Amino acid sequence: MTIKKFLKLGLQPLANQYQKKQIRLSVKKGQLYNLNIFFNSKSKLVSISKRIPSEKMFNSKYPYRSSMSKTMRASFKDLSKKIKRRFKPNLLLEIGSNDGALIKNFDKEKIIGVEPCKNLAKITKNDGYLTYDKYWNFDLAKKLKKKFKSVDVIYSANTLTHISNLTDVFQSIKYLLSEQGTVIIEDPSLLECIKKNSYDQFYNEHIYLFSGLAMKNLLRRFDFEIFDLENLSTHGGSLRYYIKRKSNKKQKVTNKVDSQIKEEIRFGLHKYNTYKRFSFNVSESKKKLLQILNKIKKDKKKIIGYGATAKAVTVLNYCDINKDLIPIFTDTTPEKINNYIPGRNIKISKYNKNILKNYDYAFLGAWNFKKEIIQKEKKFIKKGLKFLTHVPYPKFIK
Ligand code: TYD
Repeated sequence: MTIKKFLKLGLQPLANQYQKKQIRLSVKKGQLYNLNIFFNSKSKLVSISKRIPSEKMFNSKYPYRSSMSKTMRASFKDLSKKIKRRFKPNLLLEIGSNDGALIKNFDKEKIIGVEPCKNLAKITKNDGYLTYDKYWNFDLAKKLKKKFKSVDVIYSANTLTHISNLTDVFQSIKYLLSEQGTVIIEDPSLLECIKKNSYDQFYNEHIYLFSGLAMKNLLRRFDFEIFDLENLSTHGGSLRYYIKRKSNKKQKVTNKVDSQIKEEIRFGLHKYNTYKRFSFNVSESKKKLLQILNKIKKDKKKIIGYGATAKAVTVLNYCDINKDLIPIFTDTTPEKINNYIPGRNIKISKYNKNILKNYDYAFLGAWNFKKEIIQKEKKFIKKGLKFLTHVPYPKFIK
């Protein structure tokens, strides 16, 4: 069999559907589904089995905002400088432009945003950026080709993992990209996920978790190839792939591509056994996290969840963590505040800078922003507050 299951994360709700009130979700009503993860030994692609229709996930209520963190704003600013310097594009297109964290760094006449979540597209439209509040597909590519002929750089961060039909995605990109054009794709790295045991990268929106190996195989089908790579610390460890047409000999392929693939093979990303081992580590991680949380409860200490991320939704539901273990979460995102964690009925309270004052522990839901958060909350840490993380294994942060 080419496609084999290696991890079961149990019944899960849709990660970004924060609940307005406390309710019991049901499988019958389609509110819970079994989250299983598979490895394709031929294409080396890792994916979840369940396909939720995009319209159900990415609509005008989508709560995720790229601009919510200093780290992401800085990352996009840095990248925009690099793109201008290295590729000097006349026209750039961003697939999944969210609330404009990247496109705001470009001149209005040089950039096009594509964002199907109308609440987010509205933000960049209001700022005067040309934004299509549509899904990225061949119809849209045709429309854009008529209007603009071609685009020099097509960029997409943390979006392609969310789109089921990758053939359509790349055919549409191929159709619109100029002959010497560059595609830049940035998504969480499978290697980092396995190394960090961060099983919470898996949830309904992350249909795929890419590796250099899988990306290389995928691109071959469209006569594309990776010519450069960057490892990033964002989203808990991401890979940024620089891609070109194979026929474009102007861009040289750097040795970073080969070294990434070698590292992935050294780590065993091409073998099913590696994923089975990961699956065992995940179940150990659950046991250990529950042990720590139960001890905190027994000692009658106070704990708050910090960062109501989609990732935390996977952790809480997989580990069966309820209000008795973590009574409340806090988050800065307006769309999440006063709602409840999907499937868990744990309330999300509005962040304020004194929120940690009366707590002994904070469970780091947004562990990918560890540095930023620890820095921000250092006065409470000095007073004795301890952050608890589950990455790479459950422990208190020293
Ligand atoms: P993120 O980890 O980027 O996303 P995902 O939902 O894909 O797992 O989300 C970070 C969340 O953490 C977001 O809801 C904002 C919140 N957050 C805070 O509440 N305070 C902070 O200081 C930071 C950096 C993030």
